[in-house]
Amino acid sequence: MRITVLAPAKINLFLHVLGKRDDGYHELLTLFQMVGIYDEISVERVAGEVRLRCDIQGVAEEENIAFRAAVLLKEACGVNDGAVITLDKAIPMAAGLGGGSSDAAAVLFALNRLWSLGLGREDLMQLGLRLGSDVPFFLSGPAAVGRGRGELLEPFPPLESWVLLVNPGFAVSTAWVYRNVNLKLTTLRDNTKLPSFLKKGLSAVKLCNEDLHEHLYNSLEEVTEHYYPEVTEIKNRMLDCGASAALMSGSGPTVFGLFNREVDAQKAAAALYRKDRRIFVAPTLTRSPLTL
Ligand code: C5P
Repeated sequence: MRITVLAPAKINLFLHVLGKRDDGYHELLTLFQMVGIYDEISVERVAGEVRLRCDIQGVAEEENIAFRAAVLLKEACGVNDGAVITLDKAIPMAAGLGGGSSDAAAVLFALNRLWSLGLGREDLMQLGLRLGSDVPFFLSGPAAVGRGRGELLEPFPPLESWVLLVNPGFAVSTAWVYRNVNLKLTTLRDNTKLPSFLKKGLSAVKLCNEDLHEHLYNSLEEVTEHYYPEVTEIKNRMLDCGASAALMSGSGPTVFGLFNREVDAQKAAAALYRKDRRIFVAPTLTRSPLTL
């Protein structure tokens, strides 16, 4: 038996770092939104151990978060069977798009079925948090407000938009970005409208893009932009090319731009082309591909 699932990317429509916690993580207020670019993961039941087939250069099997997700689930549930996991990556890595976290969520989801474990969403989310702060979101979605490390989730009406994603072609370590964030500059003081926007959003069936625009913000941008000016260049160029907003996602360095029409996003994609960049045009998702 074999199960194949799609693991989507995410963007953070806003990401406020509110402070540093005693456990070393940072307290966040963020709005996650799934986007339709996908890694593909298939799992096949075999006797014995977990094995991973993946074409990523330089990442050992036991370091890959998809492999670690499978081992964690096998140990937590005392499963005797093994699995062969085939991971076909499309989402750039260390890019601010949550690719690894999404892979881990997809593996937990697929193996829960393959091994007939009968775990519910909450159980999977708790296990997922042991692998990474963003993993629980990928087991819920398609859009959610995240608090705490990003794991305290409240569903939010998904944004309906076309997204242009431009990854400059280099990796940025999330831990490094958080280490360098200037906490003095990261308060919610000057964003007093955010609480009322959140209240409205939680009760709204659908938000229009304009409702959201003034709240797009990322506390981590200044760190990544300071060391990698190309991020600022990409943002400015996207706005010149007609994006209604442009922002770095997560710890970066990928930048996303919002467009009402696919054709306009495609034109901007062509204008931003450089052979070292990875560029995608995709819709935001209004349903998660992992539905329990
Ligand atoms: O949770 P995850 O392993 O994906 O996070 C990677 C790194 O990012 C953490 O080791 C931590 O340094 C930083 N981080 C943080 N606060 C968060 C999420 C991540 O400081 N809320």
